[in-house]
Amino acid sequence: MELIEMENSREFQILMIRYDSAIREVMTKLEILNDELAFSAPSNPISSIRSRRKTPESIYEKLIRQNFPLTVESIEENLHDVAGIRVICPFLDDIYKVAKMLVQQDDITLIRTKDYIGHPKPNGYRSLHLIVEVPVFFSSEKRPMQVEVQVRTVAMDFWANLEHRMKYKKDFPKEASDVIYHDLRECADTIANTDMRMLNIRDQINRLEQEMTEEKMQTEKEV
Ligand code: GTP
Ligand code: MG
Repeated sequence: MELIEMENSREFQILMIRYDSAIREVMTKLEILNDELAFSAPSNPISSIRSRRKTPESIYEKLIRQNFPLTVESIEENLHDVAGIRVICPFLDDIYKVAKMLVQQDDITLIRTKDYIGHPKPNGYRSLHLIVEVPVFFSSEKRPMQVEVQVRTVAMDFWANLEHRMKYKKDFPKEASDVIYHDLRECADTIANTDMRMLNIRDQINRLEQEMTEEKMQTEKEV
C-alpha cells in the first residue's frame, strides 16, 4: 500500500483517533497523579507533560525501515510509539514514583519497560521508557491501545533535545561530529551526577524543614 492510500483509508483514520484518545486517557491519569501527589509533598512530581502522535509519513517510513507489512493492521501490531507522551520531572525519584503509580492503575497494562537511567545508552542517553496499554472506549467497542511514555528529569530532557538535533546532521564533517558527541557524552555524565546531588540537597532541605517544625512545636508546647 502507498502512503497516500493508507493515509486516506477509513481504517487508518479511525486508528489515529484511537491513538489520540489513548493519549488523552494517559495524559489525564498523569495530571490527576500530579495534582494528588503535589497535595502531600512540598512540590509537584511533574514539571511538564508533552505528547505527540506520529505523523502518517513517519509511521509509513518506520514500517518500511523495519520491514513490516504496509497495512493498517501492521501499524497496531508492530509499532509501539505511534502515541507518545513525555513526562518531565524535577527530581530523579519523581520519575520512578510517577511511573509506578501510573502502572499500578488497574486499567493500565505494562507491556515493556526500558530503564535507560539504570542502564544508560552508550551515548549517555538517560530516560525511563514504558510501553503501556490503556483501554479506549468507542460507541461499539473497547480497544486496548499502546502508548509510549518517556519519563525523564528536566536536565535529561535538556540533554536529549540537543542530542536529538545531531540525528539530522549526518552531513557534518566527521571530526566536528566526533567532538560534539564526545562533549555530549561528558555532559550526560555531569547531568546524571548533578541530578543525584540535587536529589540529595532536596532531601537535606526536607529533613531540616521537618526538624525545625518539630522543634517549634516542642517549644510551643513548653510555653
Ligand atoms: P525506536 O528508536 O523508536 O525505533 O524504538 P526502540 O524500540 O529502539 O525504542 P527506544 O526505547 O530505544 O527509543 C524510543 C524513543 O526514545 C526514541 O524514538 C527517542 O524519542 C528516544 N530515544 C532513544 N534513544 C535516544 C537517544 O540516544 N537520544 C535521544 N535524544 N532520544 C532517544
Ligand atoms: Mg531506538
